[in-house]
Amino acid sequence: MNFAIKKHDLIVILTGAGISAESGLSTFRDNNGLWETYNVNEVATPEGFKKNPSLVWKFYNKRRQQLKNVKPNNAHKTITYFQKYFHNTHIITQNVDNLHEKAGNKNTIHMHGTLERIICTHCNYSRNDLDKISEIPICPECKNYLRPDIVWFGEIPYYLEAIEKLLKESVLFIGIGTSGTVYPAAEFINIAKQFNAKTIFINKESVNNHSIDYFYQGEAGSLLEEVFNEIINMCKN
Ligand code: OAD
Repeated sequence: MNFAIKKHDLIVILTGAGISAESGLSTFRDNNGLWETYNVNEVATPEGFKKNPSLVWKFYNKRRQQLKNVKPNNAHKTITYFQKYFHNTHIITQNVDNLHEKAGNKNTIHMHGTLERIICTHCNYSRNDLDKISEIPICPECKNYLRPDIVWFGEIPYYLEAIEKLLKESVLFIGIGTSGTVYPAAEFINIAKQFNAKTIFINKESVNNHSIDYFYQGEAGSLLEEVFNEIINMCKN
């Protein structure tokens, strides 16, 4: 790699399911990924929830229960180390787990929601809740169904305005562990590039995108340290 970077430059890291894979959480589109076992339309759309809310809750309960025992891996920890050097690093994650937070990563935006929260399907009620749920939970305020705070297919991701601002102002964009198939996240690298950011991508399988300046193929847990140290070494002040 060869580009200019300063300690206070704005850096955006986009993460996907691949960064949590080495912690034991399944990705979506790899062999044995979640969308091979489950029908995405049944468990990750508003229509699916309307049709069969217990099935949807069953799917997310499994994920919610996993969060209690799962631990951040070397990739998450390496981001914590990187952020100590580059304070103005922001993470946009498509992941709904809490591993960035558990690793002590700062400035994390959960654009697809989080498993830790439950929201009402009708009113503004919400709460943090990772307890086991056996029945479909009911809103204590309006008595309608509660649902996981996950952005399903057909819904608009969270914080898009703030994300766009970060992408346009970023000097460096780093994508980690995402197949780049789900929009709008798949487009973030193109926006950053259009606004003159250098772009790096780290992924287990190759990713085809003309906006990538530097691609590293392999597992984030072992590759990130090397890539981040190279960036730190390029930083002049
Ligand atoms: P995918 O499952 O589509 O892609 C994960 C990527 O991570 C794949 O390209 C893998 O090759 C790569 N990968 C696997 N293990 C890795 C490792 N140890 N190190 C680096 N890379 C690794 O997951 P996402 O791109 O996150 O949305 O999927 C995006 C969205 O689609 C998700 O947020 C989810 C899903 O449907 C919703 O549920 C709304």
